Amino acid sequence: MYTLGVSCFFHDAAAAILNDGQLIAAAEEERFTRRKHDYNFPEEAIDFCLRRAQITGQELDSVVFFEKPFLKLERILTTTAASYPSSSVVFQKAMTTWLKDKLWIKGKLANYLKLDPKKVIFCEHHISHAASSFFCSPFEDAAILTVDGVGEWATATFGEGHGTDLKLLGEIRFPHSLGLLYSAFTALLGFEVNEGEYKVMGMAPFGRPEYKDKVEKLIRLGSDGSFHLDMKYFSFDRSSTDTYNEKFVELMGPPRAPESPFFTEESGYPSYFGPKPADFRKQADNNQHYANIASSIQSVTEDVLVHMSRHLQQRTGLKRLCLAGGVALNSVANGRILREAGFDEIFVQPAAGDGGGALGAALWAHHVVAGRPRKFQMDHAYWGDEHSNGSIVDYLNSQSVKHESFDNEDTLCRKAVAALEGGSVVGWMQGRFEWGPRALGNRSILADPRRAEMKEIVNTKIKFREPFRPFAPSVLIDKASDFFDARIAKQLPARFMAMVADVRPEAKSKIPAVTHVDGTARLQTVLPETNPLYARLLSEFERATGVPILLNTSFNLRGEPIVNTPAETLSSFARSGMDMVVMGNTIVQKENL
Ligand SMILES: [Fe+2]
Repeated sequence: MYTLGVSCFFHDAAAAILNDGQLIAAAEEERFTRRKHDYNFPEEAIDFCLRRAQITGQELDSVVFFEKPFLKLERILTTTAASYPSSSVVFQKAMTTWLKDKLWIKGKLANYLKLDPKKVIFCEHHISHAASSFFCSPFEDAAILTVDGVGEWATATFGEGHGTDLKLLGEIRFPHSLGLLYSAFTALLGFEVNEGEYKVMGMAPFGRPEYKDKVEKLIRLGSDGSFHLDMKYFSFDRSSTDTYNEKFVELMGPPRAPESPFFTEESGYPSYFGPKPADFRKQADNNQHYANIASSIQSVTEDVLVHMSRHLQQRTGLKRLCLAGGVALNSVANGRILREAGFDEIFVQPAAGDGGGALGAALWAHHVVAGRPRKFQMDHAYWGDEHSNGSIVDYLNSQSVKHESFDNEDTLCRKAVAALEGGSVVGWMQGRFEWGPRALGNRSILADPRRAEMKEIVNTKIKFREPFRPFAPSVLIDKASDFFDARIAKQLPARFMAMVADVRPEAKSKIPAVTHVDGTARLQTVLPETNPLYARLLSEFERATGVPILLNTSFNLRGEPIVNTPAETLSSFARSGMDMVVMGNTIVQKENL
């Protein structure tokens, strides 16, 4: 019995396919079209899912869309009517896109897949989120919290799951949205909304939460776990371009110049920004102010999430929590929820944002609608496309690129470790690409975490990104507690880099390149059972250096999606300062390009 889940037309478009409730494949459209956060109808991701399941569209038993377009349109019409005429531009824009595409998704899916439209069903946005976490978790019973910008009406839901049953206990409705509050600050801090939220989180530890009292003026907490925004500061309910208004600026001060270089006294001035400006001190002081704003909104967001989670724990009495929605990608907040909300265990699925809705919608149809038993747990993220050693070598030959293949994995790993230990930056492209925004050892760029200078080298030669963004460590699971807070390291989301842990005080000086300014790290625990080759590489690095950890950042250049194919891998390798790339069992050295 095949079920296809689809999400699109909002944030990340994606498709996922189940066979009798077992996940076969899942991927975001951007990996195929090479348009970052591509939200168009995911033809290529759907084709990939069908190919992987070895079926045609007609053989699908059901197709599930991750939200209900008519309910969503109702929300847009209701809220724009309430603020007419100031919302007239939003109304016009919404009508154009809705009448063109979004309302007709049922027919579009049926046409594309050449199947009976009756097979196409719809799941509510936040139920898709809730199902994407609970039905991928190993928990039989769990509380479920979803928090994002907005779906149809809901911006957050409280729920619980038992076996194949999933029910919502309550919801918070638009315009009261924690995701949109965070996005308003993302915009104020000069970053792109839906893209720069990670940057705010990375910037926060460089500041102090000095403006927390001001941020708290924007949001009021209710005793029932809810919150309300004071809408006189915001314009996202009536504008398609602005999230906040003049009153917000009166309160928080003027916005930071968009995408201007960010540095503080503490971060220093990285060489790849060019020559240090004469007024470095003045600019650093100015940036410090914005880092303090980032720290304040991050702190309030964490407080609100802890408040909601604690309420949900007390209401349900359950000791396990499944989190989903874009806000669940706030890995710093997830650590605080575990420490403070009264839960023993937390689960977050790697595609916690809207892409994950495709998977959640399919799981919901299989378990809740069809009532079929659960037999799937997501214990790794490798659900994307893969390329055989033969096809990699064929491609390299077609490009006349000199390469060397190694049938023995120990030899392959030893070669990579020798390069890493010698200070090289190594591209690592293996097996199926990851589901969700994180590279977890199959499409990764790796470096030696013991070398403090690696942070700047990787930024300067490869990623060209802001100096305040931390690099994450991959660590062998049975060694994780030697380096990181053991309680976090044991949690399942640590496998997906979805939680931030304190680095143990005695370990900080051993792994400076992956320890953030506040002494934390967004670790990834690696299991030999789910990624044997990557675990072997880490073991080999430990044998050579005594440290079972590698710096792991995603295999993409700035502004591009993570690589999928051998061609994309080689192209990114060639255009960056990486020294060596390992593709399957084949190594290419930079000097041989
Ligand atoms: Fe969402």
